[in-house]
Amino acid sequence: MSSSNIFVVAIDFGTTYSGYAFSSISRKEQVFTYSWNEGNSYSPKTLTSILFTPDKNFDSFGKDAEEKYARLSQIGENRHWHFFKRFKLTLYKNNNLNEKTMIPDFTGRQMLAIEVFSGGIRYLKDHLFTHFKSRIEHLREGDIHWVLTIPAIWDETAKKFMRSCTEKAGIPGKQLTLALEPESAVLYCQLGMQRSGLSPIQSGQKFLLLDCGGGTVDVTVHEVLWDMSFKEIHRASGGPWGKFIGIVWFRVDRFVVKSDVIELETNFELLKKRVDTTNKIYTIQLPLGLRQHDMLVAGKLRLDSTIVTSFFDKPVTNICNHIQEILSSLRCHDISTIILVGGFSESKILQEKLQSKFTHMRILTPKNPASAVVEGAVEFGQCPEKIRFRMSPYTYGVSISKEFLPMKHSHRKRIEINGKMYCEGIFDVHVIQDQLVETGTTISNETYSPIDPKQNSIPISLAISESSNPIFVDDPGNRVIGSFNIQIPNEESGCNRNVEVKMIFTGTELKVEARNGHTMKSYASSFRFH
Ligand SMILES: Nc1ncnc2c1ncn2[C@@H]1O[C@H](COP(=O)(O)OP(=O)(O)OP(=O)(O)O)[C@@H](O)[C@H]1O
Ligand SMILES: [Mg+2]
Repeated sequence: MSSSNIFVVAIDFGTTYSGYAFSSISRKEQVFTYSWNEGNSYSPKTLTSILFTPDKNFDSFGKDAEEKYARLSQIGENRHWHFFKRFKLTLYKNNNLNEKTMIPDFTGRQMLAIEVFSGGIRYLKDHLFTHFKSRIEHLREGDIHWVLTIPAIWDETAKKFMRSCTEKAGIPGKQLTLALEPESAVLYCQLGMQRSGLSPIQSGQKFLLLDCGGGTVDVTVHEVLWDMSFKEIHRASGGPWGKFIGIVWFRVDRFVVKSDVIELETNFELLKKRVDTTNKIYTIQLPLGLRQHDMLVAGKLRLDSTIVTSFFDKPVTNICNHIQEILSSLRCHDISTIILVGGFSESKILQEKLQSKFTHMRILTPKNPASAVVEGAVEFGQCPEKIRFRMSPYTYGVSISKEFLPMKHSHRKRIEINGKMYCEGIFDVHVIQDQLVETGTTISNETYSPIDPKQNSIPISLAISESSNPIFVDDPGNRVIGSFNIQIPNEESGCNRNVEVKMIFTGTELKVEARNGHTMKSYASSFRFH
């Protein structure tokens, strides 16, 4: 954060709902969360739905986008418009993510992902700025430090992609911090009884936090250190289990007007929030176009508890199994608390299932589980150093060539340079998965030299792996995520020209720095993620 910043603003761009919160640097304990008028009530988040015109220009966001698209659909004019909802999940484990990636809209028509995401972020940014401007006359864009929250289980490519979207939305990179959603929630839960409704977890204690959103379920396990900072003791994990599996009794195909589909989804969303553990009949109002079924009563679909609660089976089972796996792997740690945040954590079904499965655990929910992430992200923007140790989510390394050893190396990797045989594409490990890394410190520093004396640049490719002992960068499960070229003039020095490659976790993001050992010139900013 720069010394000229006056405010920290956090944006939670969620799969189903988005919102923002802010505080001033001078009064950081006062966090304001914008309340959206969602029709019947005010909410800290609005729907992450975006509408683009037939010319692919941004039209509207949130409830406005939903309502306008439904209206267009009713009069049959929606065909050329682009309506997006629940699109954030397309970034999860997407190996081909880049600025040209296309994503399908509600009807399957493609648009550039970067346009869609940046359109949404720009809307939230402009909304916030308009809101601030009316209160603080001389506010300049440079006065704000921005925080954007992202799921902890996203990889470096998805983080980098969100950075590009945010920059395209008009937020300069140096004014932006990426915050991990469950980590932000951890900070929120530690703010004290008055702010989060929870007593802070004491130093020396360990706890598991579950962020159950509408798309991803993220799990982190932390220990509170002596200075009340946090040390991760299990690498962030989770999956795309927030998606609720609903009824598919009706063929919702292209003959059904899209406004009916939106209405059905909205009614389902309302039903989902009503479901509890008592035995009763639930009714769901159906859109007019879907009311010809014999089993309907006065246009409403009647479902008993068994059916309705079965919709929760898959996500709830996935969540419970995952927690069980983590707790088993951390048996030697004394973890006695589970904290639940995120909209889905308000589900009575999920709460009861967790309580009955983990009887020996204390299960806590903060005052505002749906806004825990965005409010905590403001705190993270103010004090990022509070999350002091993280476990590396992947093994990171670079691709190198070494002398070819016939007994060890595959022939398909053999290359010849100046009459000598080399093996290319070897994964040279810098950081191992699960390695404990302190925020802001250099975690590796390796020196490389050219293999061809006439070489005037060294290409560096950054690779990741989920194995702790990767062999080649292109083995299954490994992948190259970025690259850059380091200029090494001075050919007269031949192969005695060194290049240092360092990896630094600057908090939530990996920074790779390379330095020409002769000219001392650093190459960090030119690094390109693929
Ligand atoms: N009372 C409730 N019972 C069940 N589910 C609920 C309840 N309240 C909200 N939800 C669900 O929570 C989800 C929204 O939660 P949240 O706002 O945390 O998600 P998100 O931030 O949009 O998603 P993600 O974090 O995965 O990107 C929705 O799927 C909604 O249906
Ligand atoms: Mg969320």
